Amino acid sequence: MSVPKSEYLSSVWAPGIFANRVVFVTGGAGTICSAQTRAMVHLGADACIIGRNPEKTEKAAKDIAKVRSGARVIGIGNVDVRNFDNLKAAAERCVKELGAIDFVIAGAAGNFIAPISGLSPNAFKTVIDIDTIGTFNTVKATIPYLIESAARNPNPNPNGLTGGRIISVSATFHYTGMPLQAHVSAAKAAVDSLMASVSLEYGPYGVTANVIAPGAIEGTEGMERLASSAVDKQKMTKAVPSGRWGSRRDIADATVYLFSDAGNYVNGTTLVVDGAGWRRQGGN
Ligand code: HXC
Repeated sequence: MSVPKSEYLSSVWAPGIFANRVVFVTGGAGTICSAQTRAMVHLGADACIIGRNPEKTEKAAKDIAKVRSGARVIGIGNVDVRNFDNLKAAAERCVKELGAIDFVIAGAAGNFIAPISGLSPNAFKTVIDIDTIGTFNTVKATIPYLIESAARNPNPNPNGLTGGRIISVSATFHYTGMPLQAHVSAAKAAVDSLMASVSLEYGPYGVTANVIAPGAIEGTEGMERLASSAVDKQKMTKAVPSGRWGSRRDIADATVYLFSDAGNYVNGTTLVVDGAGWRRQGGN
């Protein structure tokens, strides 16, 4: 499926800023992560996307490759981020086939709507396993390659080249707590905390580790479930101070900023991309 460029990238970025760079993306076939990957590939990167479903992952890789002639995009299916050995093997294959891992997007996530009374211990654990343990496994499997990339591309680099960077995709629910999302809120709070530690441990190696926290993003599985009726959607849109839901492009642009030379002193932080929505999500 061809996706118009304006849906995943704004026009302000210089062409080729990620040439000869490789981005490794978990959950890369998903709505948000595929837009992040498209943007990176459009700007010159090659990509390796990871997913559980082989058909979906390989198809997404083929679609993403179409955004730039000569782009190399591989899809590795049958990888569950809950399994460290799966991820380690995927990272090794990425380096073997594409030569490096310069950027990582830890985006794989699991979500469903359920009150605490409807969450079995295993349901709660499943989301913690996918989001939190999955992010840890992704960091652990890719950090040696990010350190190598950072060594090749010292930060700041006089040529403006970057590498050795990781972004986790989180959420804003845990800033206030969120009904029906106790499992996701807890998992994402842990992701934010983990990334702070990654920035402290690996900053001295030249690696940056940040979080992007999307708000309500149009077209995502999670938001379709949360705002299941037109009335819900209207109410939730009204609550966003910027007056609209976010787009996939909003998240892709934030990603490009953090991975580009413009973001080279941004480390250990969370970039909230939500139109100030979280400031009202507790009913303020
Ligand atoms: C209550 C549920 C449930 C539901 C599953 N479970 N769905 N409990 N309400 N709707 C319970 C099951 O009964 C089981 O517990 C446990 O969760 C594990 O379920 P499985 O189906 O065995 O797990 P698995 O096959 O690993 O699937 C994981 C999943 C699934 C999270 C349940 O939905 C999934 O694979 N999701 C990936 C895609 C996805 O969700 N993308 C959206 C990401 S959006 P028992 O006790 O019966 O064994 C996102 C953004 C969040 O994350 C923020 C923005 C909104």
